[in-house]
Amino acid sequence: MVLNRALILGALALTTMMSPSGGEDIVADHVGIYGADLYQSHGPSGQYTHEFDGDELFYVDLGKKETVWRLPMFGELTSFDPQGALSEIAKAKHNLDIMIKRSNFTPVINEVPEVTVFSKSPVMLGQPNTLICHVDNIFPPVINITWLKNGHVVTEGVSETSFLPKDDHSFLKIGYLTFLPSDDDVYDCKVEHWGLEEPLLKHWEPEIPAPMSELTETVVCALGLTMGLVGIVVGTIFIIQGLRSGGAPRHQGPL
Ligand SMILES: *[C@@H]1O[C@H](CO)[C@@H](O)[C@H](O)[C@H]1NC(C)=O
Repeated sequence: MVLNRALILGALALTTMMSPSGGEDIVADHVGIYGADLYQSHGPSGQYTHEFDGDELFYVDLGKKETVWRLPMFGELTSFDPQGALSEIAKAKHNLDIMIKRSNFTPVINEVPEVTVFSKSPVMLGQPNTLICHVDNIFPPVINITWLKNGHVVTEGVSETSFLPKDDHSFLKIGYLTFLPSDDDVYDCKVEHWGLEEPLLKHWEPEIPAPMSELTETVVCALGLTMGLVGIVVGTIFIIQGLRSGGAPRHQGPL
């Protein structure tokens, strides 16, 4: 009976443990920004983008008056008339002039961008990969992101996103570099921005586990050997002691 109850309790505990804990989680929650435009007096320059869940869908090349899809396949599914972007930019330009006067020509405050560099996939020597330079907290949206390989500027295999708007009115921009990991190559993502006193270099090199030095190998080997020998000696002593005491009477109390 006791056993049965324990079994039932056990089964109950198991069911509780197996029931999904986050049953109330929201599974679908998406954000599309269809038409984020910016216009600034530096240049002057502007940008018009659409994005979905934080990923850029396209930007409109304001000079060439054409839609540039982030991935060409997007453009095969749908289209966007760049004219819509041009009129939005014209409005933004008009508003900027008013706001500049209203603010009495107060210049913006430069933020300090935050730069992180990492590889898209785990690094394997000789396996093509992509380096990602994630630049956050950009304001104003004027920046240069360049890649250096062994200290020299790389132009091939390089691409970047538009300025992606953030909730706090700063921007995010991501630079990419396709590369072939090798032992001898080191990389830097170079960021130039008015918020930085000098260009910021974020270094990256493949992390290849360093081969154990000969000294380390010798020490590990010697330690292992010593411990093994000590084990044999101590073990033997215990066995001998056990054999000796085995003959002695177990109970020495009064009979
Ligand atoms: C970006 O590079 C150009 C060309 O070298 C330079 O004139 C400009 O000042 C740089 N921009 C920033 C924000 O440093």
